[in-house]
Amino acid sequence: MKIEKIKESRINTVDFKNLDFGGVFTDHMYSCDFIDGKWINSEITPYKPITVSPASRVFHYGQACFEGMKAFKDNNDKTWLFRPIDNYERIIKSSKRLAMPEFPKDLFFNALHNLLKIDADWIKPGFGNSLYIRPFIFASEGSINATEAKEYKFMIICAPASSYYSGEVRVKIEKSFSRAAKGGIGYAKAAGNYAAQFYPTILAKNEGYQQIIWTDSSTHEYIEEAGTMNLFFRIGNKLITAPTSDSILDGITRKSLIQIAKDENIDVEIRPLLVSELIDAANNGSLFEIFGSGTAVVVLPILGFGYENNKYELPIKENSWANLLKNKLNNIQYNISKDPYGWTIEV
Ligand code: COI
Repeated sequence: MKIEKIKESRINTVDFKNLDFGGVFTDHMYSCDFIDGKWINSEITPYKPITVSPASRVFHYGQACFEGMKAFKDNNDKTWLFRPIDNYERIIKSSKRLAMPEFPKDLFFNALHNLLKIDADWIKPGFGNSLYIRPFIFASEGSINATEAKEYKFMIICAPASSYYSGEVRVKIEKSFSRAAKGGIGYAKAAGNYAAQFYPTILAKNEGYQQIIWTDSSTHEYIEEAGTMNLFFRIGNKLITAPTSDSILDGITRKSLIQIAKDENIDVEIRPLLVSELIDAANNGSLFEIFGSGTAVVVLPILGFGYENNKYELPIKENSWANLLKNKLNNIQYNISKDPYGWTIEV
């Protein structure tokens, strides 16, 4: 791998206390090209704009997918990646669905390792601070023939992160628009899955919500996931989350929380949840918590939701399961408590 280091770091120009999620990037980036059936030009360079043909299929047909992963700094200045193998496996699954070539595992981990070593100072210690890592792959071949491309670019860029949302989050249960249909690309981290939510989310924002909860595309009766996260519902003494499917993303934070919750003796039910069941629970007082999970948001308590013309508020709980699970997860991610699951990998 070729490595070209920046002459002067930009780190001193960054206000790490007031980071806007995803707006500031570290000094370096990784890129690699797929040309003539081979991955070549594997290199780390200073973070900079790239040049591609305006006919690149990514711009016309959206042939692109990505991952979201995080690195954490512990109190001894060591850097830890959280479940990176799961991210690698998921980008391979997404690539396959979008007819893109597999990026080799050794190149992926070599690139990550080198990039995080070079930009290690950008990862700040302390709960809430992390480095958000964005691997992505897109069709770079300059042709607008509507078939899969023959050339691709794989890249990794990194953004220092604190919280994803700065304020309270309320969500609207979406009944008209759909995120994903059976047999579609909902399970893949396809770029277009996220673009498709922007418009319905703008409409929801106009009504005072920060995000939407997707329901199934055929009946709109079952809860699926939210715009940037999977969802958990504490109803009675159970923690309920929808099963992953071809329309729901197999969230890595989601499956980590399920594991931790089970080990905390929380009764976890992975099953389809009807919107009507949620409304009944809200009305009869048995809905105690809703929270989202995702790499970017980690664990995010949801303070209220809207359905049709009704708004529901959730009681703020001192001893919430959201807090309990978030703390347990953070302790593992920041190497504060022992990782009994083998999820963390030191860089
Ligand atoms: C993530 O949590 O990593 C995501 O991909 C959500 C997002 C910021 C699009």
